[in-house]
Amino acid sequence: MPVPGTVGGTLRKVASRLGVVSDQPEQEARWLLEIALGCDAADLLRLGAQSLPAAAAQWLSERVERRLAGVPLPYCLGAWSFYGLEMAVDPAVLIPRPDTEVLVELALGHLPREGARRVLDLGTGSGAVALAVARARPEAELWAVERSPEALAVAQSNGRRLGLTVHWLEGDWYASLPAAARFDLILANPPYLAADDPHLPALRHEPQEALLAGPTGLECLAEIAAEAPAHLVAGGVLGLEHGAEQGEAVRALLRAAGFDQPRTHRDLAGRERVTSASFPG
Ligand SMILES: C[S@@+](CC[C@H](N)C(=O)[O-])C[C@H]1O[C@@H](n2cnc3c(N)ncnc32)[C@H](O)[C@@H]1O
Repeated sequence: MPVPGTVGGTLRKVASRLGVVSDQPEQEARWLLEIALGCDAADLLRLGAQSLPAAAAQWLSERVERRLAGVPLPYCLGAWSFYGLEMAVDPAVLIPRPDTEVLVELALGHLPREGARRVLDLGTGSGAVALAVARARPEAELWAVERSPEALAVAQSNGRRLGLTVHWLEGDWYASLPAAARFDLILANPPYLAADDPHLPALRHEPQEALLAGPTGLECLAEIAAEAPAHLVAGGVLGLEHGAEQGEAVRALLRAAGFDQPRTHRDLAGRERVTSASFPG
């Protein structure tokens, strides 16, 4: 574009254009305009008759073109909500999913409201899991590891903006942790798609290293499970997010690594999405 005219007129034009890529074009147009104008939903209503400032029109125009090219909405907005936290996101990080809130719920169930517990989030991406746990359990000591420096920079920036403290480490799963560190809880939402997974084309805008595990899809889950006992306190818990068809395989991986009675948790749609177990020590 540029998008001339009033805020209200622009909202209608953008919504009409987004109809070809979105099933909620008006909502998307509202969110984009709120960010372009730095306002909230109530302000947007009040601003309807005012003209759109040139800088906001330019920003909006660029984002609308990206959206029309098929870029997922969160990358166009530059922000997405996860467990009540406003996370900045860019194409270096996976868009945090509601499914992963099951992993956060599991974590909180293992963490008393009071009392210091040490928690590790492996493959932190945007920092979503670590930051959601840090906010809900201020006394917990959070650690988070990420292999991609670009993703880690996003996570660190989210932590600073949200005023939440996490020990951020760049590295390959456990490799960069202090040798003596032991955790009460280890969480991971690792890559778990196989190279021929039919969902991959629809996920082409997201970082492939966040999605693809290897030929079977179980490679990262297996590595994390096998090495977890060396990093857990006695009785510590490992919680892994995985694909809906991987529950049985992940329970077997946890048993093989010496964990007790793995249990799989379902998402709101009833699919097996997170498996956890404690390590007897
Ligand atoms: C599925 S994404 C999860 C991101 C975030 N935890 C979430 O739930 O939104 C997996 C993350 O693991 C990271 N990752 C992949 N292999 C890794 C490795 N060997 N060591 C550390 N992080 C890794 C990816 O870069 C990606 O950010």
